[in-house]
Amino acid sequence: MKKIYLEETTSTNEFILKFLDAGEDTVVCAARQTSGKGTKGRSFSSSEGGVYLSALRFFQDFPAGEAFRVMMHSAAAVCKTAERFGVECEIKWPNDILAHGKKICGILIENFFSGDKLCASIVGIGLNVNNPLSGLPEAGRLSDFTKNPLEPATVREELIENFFQPFDPAAYVSRVKFLGQEIRVSEGTRDYAAIAREILPDGRLLIEEGGALRALSSAEIKITL
Ligand code: BTN
Repeated sequence: MKKIYLEETTSTNEFILKFLDAGEDTVVCAARQTSGKGTKGRSFSSSEGGVYLSALRFFQDFPAGEAFRVMMHSAAAVCKTAERFGVECEIKWPNDILAHGKKICGILIENFFSGDKLCASIVGIGLNVNNPLSGLPEAGRLSDFTKNPLEPATVREELIENFFQPFDPAAYVSRVKFLGQEIRVSEGTRDYAAIAREILPDGRLLIEEGGALRALSSAEIKITL
């Protein structure tokens, strides 16, 4: 695996695109980003003190329909990293990583398909460590929950180590703590109560609404605990 360290770039997700043709697993890390990208076209605040990295991972024979496993694996890798520094995490399906109820990380994935196979993924991870937060009340930082200050570089290396491990769906499922509980689901114009039942092997959330079971995929759905 090739590792590249930058002081500054626009976005590690953008920078890593130039390695797509090389076919080698690669990680690009930056101390700060000037134009960090978030999901749904949003920007991602990326000042010094956080971990900002993109990992390009190539796959053989990976069914396209199981692409959500990449997200599951990435979220679990972030949780394992935080836990290594003594911070217990939980995953709010599909991919919010919470420490003490605060979101400490954002994940942005770009997948590359050929026919019915997933060939490669770019996984961009922004993990708040010591950096100033963007002002969102729901955001938190890893160092808010540790006894000792943390070096972003130490956290970054632990994260890379955890990311380049074999996939383990159980590591994701065990950190989804709301199974069996009532949740509120916002789906288009509908807002309803349901019981969260199970994470299916393809990453969909099985809910029970009015006695009927239904599998939700993540698009366009918001869960409130
Ligand atoms: C989100 O929560 O909206 C996802 C944010 C993802 C941010 C990371 S930081 C490293 C990588 N480079 C980017 O420009 N974005 C991702």
